[in-house]
Amino acid sequence: MMNTRKQQPHNKKPLFVGFVATSIDGRISLSKTHPPDWTSKEDWRFFQKELSACDAVIVGRHTYEGVAARLKKRNTFVFTRSKKLRREGTVTFLDPERTDLRKLLAPYKRIGIVGGASVYQWALDNGFLNELFVTVEPLVFGRGKMMFEGGIRTHRLALLSTKKLNANGTLLLRYKAR
Ligand SMILES: NC(=O)c1ccc[n+]([C@@H]2O[C@H](COP(=O)([O-])OP(=O)(O)OC[C@H]3O[C@@H](n4cnc5c(N)ncnc54)[C@H](OP(=O)(O)O)[C@@H]3O)[C@@H](O)[C@H]2O)c1
Repeated sequence: MMNTRKQQPHNKKPLFVGFVATSIDGRISLSKTHPPDWTSKEDWRFFQKELSACDAVIVGRHTYEGVAARLKKRNTFVFTRSKKLRREGTVTFLDPERTDLRKLLAPYKRIGIVGGASVYQWALDNGFLNELFVTVEPLVFGRGKMMFEGGIRTHRLALLSTKKLNANGTLLLRYKAR
């Protein structure tokens, strides 16, 4: 279980690791309230194990509201434009444009970026994404939310590894951001 005690300063820069599960057609959800109940159990296990290794997570407000019960126990930073920086236990609500996020996150070592679409995009655009795990589930939604949204330039990533997670063909791709 992740440590939620007060973090001590450390010398290394935090590592930002993104996790996204997608359909073949690049969709992460049917809507902003669609629960993440369509991914494989193998991906779910992978995601939970990886989250346990993170000492903080960054998430958008919609995603947070869908899984608040789970994220309340973690050091969670929820992006929202509608409120000033506000703390509720281990959860901090903030607008990254009005916050010195690097300073706020400096005590943490491994920070999970868990979406949704505009949070992944923001992390990529602003240098808050060192690695990205993409789980491709073998299904097509044909509609729904894109994996990234609101981007204004192209980012090139380098593929570090691929792994087939189950007999259905769920693929786990690991990328390094350049
Ligand atoms: N498949 C996956 O891996 C995956 C991952 C994550 C989420 N999801 C799914 O995606 C859906 C929700 O995703 P979403 O893209 O609609 O929403 P989201 O990113 O979770 O939340 C969007 C909200 O977060 C805040 N926000 C996002 N970027 C911000 C920024 N740069 N600065 C300030 N505030 C920012 C805004 O909140 P305010 O409106 O309060 O200003 C915005 O309306 C859910 O169905 C969820 O289950 C799937």
